[in-house]
Amino acid sequence: MFISETYSTNTLLKQRVAAGEQIPDLSFIRTDYQTAGRGQAGNSWESERGKNILMSILLKEPAIPAEKQFLLSELFPLAVIEAVEAIGGPLDIKVKWPNDIYVGNRKLAGILIENSLSSGRIDYAILGIGLNVNQTEWVSDAPNPVSLKMLTGHEWDVEKLTDSIMDRLRDRLEHVDDHLLHEQYMARLFRREGYHPYRNKEGDFWARIADVDAFGRLILEMQNGEKRTYLLKQVQYLL
Ligand code: BTN
Repeated sequence: MFISETYSTNTLLKQRVAAGEQIPDLSFIRTDYQTAGRGQAGNSWESERGKNILMSILLKEPAIPAEKQFLLSELFPLAVIEAVEAIGGPLDIKVKWPNDIYVGNRKLAGILIENSLSSGRIDYAILGIGLNVNQTEWVSDAPNPVSLKMLTGHEWDVEKLTDSIMDRLRDRLEHVDDHLLHEQYMARLFRREGYHPYRNKEGDFWARIADVDAFGRLILEMQNGEKRTYLLKQVQYLL
């Protein structure tokens, strides 16, 4: 469904589910404007009214065990990338660990997945996405944003893009093959190849991405071969 304005589509959808509303699987709420859009790790999400995709999708009891919930963080960005490619041609879009969507060194979309677990299962998941479509200027200190319009020079149809995302998501959810999905995720990963600069609490260093483990932790290999495992916020990409 579409609603012209709300605080946050993730929060609204979560409240509706928690209130016991019967909402069908794969329903979504899309809006033109959020007054309290949420990003990862307590950040806010800036989006100019009516310019972008701001939506949250409900997955009811997805066929993914709770301990494998990172698979959703692999699957959803891939579906979004395929959706953009399907209607606009190749832009060399990557997933920046864990699930940001990047083109070059710039952020095209952010994803906020919130799972509700009960007795070792995912009761429901809310897949939230903010995809920069037709916005060209940002007022906050949003780091290195970019939009489809900036990349291609023309306006994009937000509704067509929304339909394309839902199509690709439905397809991908029909058959989830853990290994294949992980391979595809790794193949699409920003900075998959070579050594790059990172920062942790001890300082700056160069490393290459060795893997992302089943819990979604980033495994970096230093130039001396030593491997280190990081959770989100424990390591920063230096761009
Ligand atoms: C991030 O990169 O920090 C994640 C941003 C996620 C933003 C989307 S916009 C729609 C949905 N509702 C929210 O409040 N957040 C997500």
